[in-house]
Amino acid sequence: MNHLESEFVFALCNPGSEKALKLEADALALGWRLSYQHRGFVTFKADAPFSLDALTAPLACARRLCLSLGKAPTREEAQQRLDAAALIHYARYFERKMQGLPCAESPQMGQLIGTVVELGPTEFWAGLHRHAPFLSPDPAGDAGLVMPLESPSRAWLKLEEALRFFALALTPADVVVELGCAPGGVVLALLQRGISTIGVDPAKMADVVLASAIAKRAEAPTHKPWFFHCRKPAALASKRDLGPGVTWFMSDMNQSPEVVLKECARFCKMAPAIRGVLITLKLTDLLQIEDKPQWLATLTDIGFTTLRLQQLSVHHKELALLALKL
Ligand SMILES: C[S@@+](CC[C@H](N)C(=O)[O-])C[C@H]1O[C@@H](n2cnc3c(N)ncnc32)[C@H](O)[C@@H]1O
Repeated sequence: MNHLESEFVFALCNPGSEKALKLEADALALGWRLSYQHRGFVTFKADAPFSLDALTAPLACARRLCLSLGKAPTREEAQQRLDAAALIHYARYFERKMQGLPCAESPQMGQLIGTVVELGPTEFWAGLHRHAPFLSPDPAGDAGLVMPLESPSRAWLKLEEALRFFALALTPADVVVELGCAPGGVVLALLQRGISTIGVDPAKMADVVLASAIAKRAEAPTHKPWFFHCRKPAALASKRDLGPGVTWFMSDMNQSPEVVLKECARFCKMAPAIRGVLITLKLTDLLQIEDKPQWLATLTDIGFTTLRLQQLSVHHKELALLALKL
């Protein structure tokens, strides 16, 4: 077996997501069998050795998938196994989280990256993966973002983490519609990036975003980012509320995936220039991930061709669902 093959792969995940991760692997009929498990860390074994290709398995609960080069009693010994890697990432289970340690260097596409995972004082694991589109550039898929004090909600973190994880290029030329926008963490993050937003939500917005609010959609300025609050439930929002030029659909509504995806289809019909969808799916139980094929099929039916479902480090019982027309 060469050093780019292994009998094992390991996944780094949010602590508490291990069961859902195993369910996903079973549902994909990959032939992967559970080998070892720790909070935030799961290893699998298969009958034939794994190659780097195995790491493309679409497992939403895995923030990072690596070929496992095994366990070592020290960090140095684990690191010695990663001599083929151009860049080394460090991760650790700490304060009940699977954390990535900040890394100053950004990976290049195709680059081989080693990960050393610390699970205890004498338990270090070494793994390898190749950087590829839609993989987080950060160790353990954890950007380590800090929410600004002025943000009215943690949704700021969820949006920023998703943009970084998937390397999404939204620009001030984009106009976003966000369902479930109150109190405004996502809208704030978008405004800070110079992106105008139509927010749909019957609830009240925070003053920090209302400072950029316009009273009528038709009065949107062209020289600065704006926010239009369509203060109603999503099902009552019309084409007129959206106006022209909407390019992204986002949702953070605390509604079932079925309700959110139904609204997504309706909004994409009302605004055919929508080129991207980013939804925070809120689950009552992560094991609902079994419904993944139906969620993806809804987006394929709308006309999206590139689909990703991913749990982010800042999520609890949530998943980010991304759809692009590429
Ligand atoms: C988690 S909060 C959203 C946080 C928000 N995205 C932010 O950036 O601060 C969920 C929101 O969904 C809204 N919501 C729930 N059902 C909705 C519906 N049918 N239409 C519009 N908004 C809805 C709630 O009013 C609530 O404000």
